[in-house]
Amino acid sequence: MDFKEINGFFKSAMEVSSNSKHAKMDARMEPVPRDVLGSVTRDQGSLGEWEAAGLLSISQNKVAALLLAGGQGTRLGVSYPKGMYDVGLPSHKTLFQIQAERILKLQELAEKKHKTKCCIPWYIMTSGRTMESTRNFFSRHNYFGLNQKSVVFFQQGMLPAMDYNGKIILENKGKLSMAPDGNGGLYRALGGQGILQDMQERGIECIHVYCVDNVLVKVADPTFIGFCVEKGADCGAKVVEKTNPTEAVGVVCKVDGLYQVVEYSEITLTTAEKRSSDGRLMFNAGNVANHFFSFSFLKDVVEKYEPKLQHHVAQKKIPYVDETGQIIKPDKPNGIKMEKFVFDIFQFANSFVVFEVLREDEFSPLKNADSQDGKDNPTTARQALMSLHHRWVLTAGGHFIDGNGTRLPAIPRDDERVNPGVNRNLKDGTDLPIKCEISPLVSYGGEGLEDLVKGQELSALGLIIDERGVHQLAENVNGL
Ligand code: UD1
Repeated sequence: MDFKEINGFFKSAMEVSSNSKHAKMDARMEPVPRDVLGSVTRDQGSLGEWEAAGLLSISQNKVAALLLAGGQGTRLGVSYPKGMYDVGLPSHKTLFQIQAERILKLQELAEKKHKTKCCIPWYIMTSGRTMESTRNFFSRHNYFGLNQKSVVFFQQGMLPAMDYNGKIILENKGKLSMAPDGNGGLYRALGGQGILQDMQERGIECIHVYCVDNVLVKVADPTFIGFCVEKGADCGAKVVEKTNPTEAVGVVCKVDGLYQVVEYSEITLTTAEKRSSDGRLMFNAGNVANHFFSFSFLKDVVEKYEPKLQHHVAQKKIPYVDETGQIIKPDKPNGIKMEKFVFDIFQFANSFVVFEVLREDEFSPLKNADSQDGKDNPTTARQALMSLHHRWVLTAGGHFIDGNGTRLPAIPRDDERVNPGVNRNLKDGTDLPIKCEISPLVSYGGEGLEDLVKGQELSALGLIIDERGVHQLAENVNGL
């Protein structure tokens, strides 16, 4: 352990996190300018062209997906990696499986269109705490049908937790309290573990970096990739409109003229609540942790800019061993963890773009365990996915019928579309959204469903559409 380096990290991290700096930060923030912004609603005429450009790059083996999965899932409260979590869909697929199958389907779509075999390598960043179980899980599940050689695991670094005086905390008599160094630990790991080299050897030009917990994530989304490529961007971020000032998402904005994400923990309420003349939040570019990097930009980051990134400070309740050898679990924060953030490199981009997508189509993160009226939990994730798939079926010309054979209205209720799963009475079966799950192996983004569902009457009580066909589940699945 390089104590000199760690002392340096501590000193500058504490300086940056001081309150006075926060207050100043608010005054230095500006919203994302219109000219770097693309949108799935405002730019509908260009979506086809962007998707085609993305699929072409995929067919040429130039696109890689990179999953950030080194987090500890503390809020969800599970002892295993979050990607292994089953949110309770009818198929009981885990987050890892859903993402793997989206990659398989996308490869197939690009291959069909361009009549050539292709591969989207999948780089998976784990940490000391998640590496072994993640690897074993993939191996046990035969890499979910992916080529084992195209799934590459690597490990981010760890840093010690420290008290407010900069002393390292002991977890146990002979053990330092260590934690992953944040998802921005990515850049050091990419260089240190030969991943950049691997990308170069495979001829990768575009990398889609994303977080493990979003059940709706469009892995290696060709439209997003095509948009960034066509705009000549070396770095891009996907966003959804932030509508609630206290929502736990970072906002993409400019600080001192440079692109940055200001985290929910780093913005003051006054700034978060500021509104533009149209009534929308002024800082409404909600970061969904989906980023695009060109390979050359990523290489520059790893080789030149990484050391310039500052650690952020998270105050935590860190269990420690006291002078008498007792393990103490503090009930208020007693120290800090230092983390780099993946998006802190936006400032170095030569050409940065932002792509706005619809929350109900692309963003439902799994952060918390289920609780009454909770947010971002297994129930909301499951319902967001089923609500999206419900809409895909309707768009493809299918109809849903209830238990009595009566057709259900074709337009989902507004509250369900805006905020799937929230504000619903889960105990009342009649008020539940339609339970419909479509395997990613059948459809990546709603395409290719007409042959299966057009003109069909399908049971709203439970429906799975997978490679083997349409399965209607007579029972109310999962007892939801
Ligand atoms: C993250 C974003 C936030 C965004 C939100 C959307 C960061 C720093 N913040 O916040 O701006 O609005 O997602 O859901 O990206 N991870 C690692 N190593 C670590 C720590 C985390 O790989 O050391 C991974 C996690 O496994 C996860 C992702 O990074 O896939 C995000 O981590 P999480 O702690 O869930 O971030 P949030 O605070 O929710």
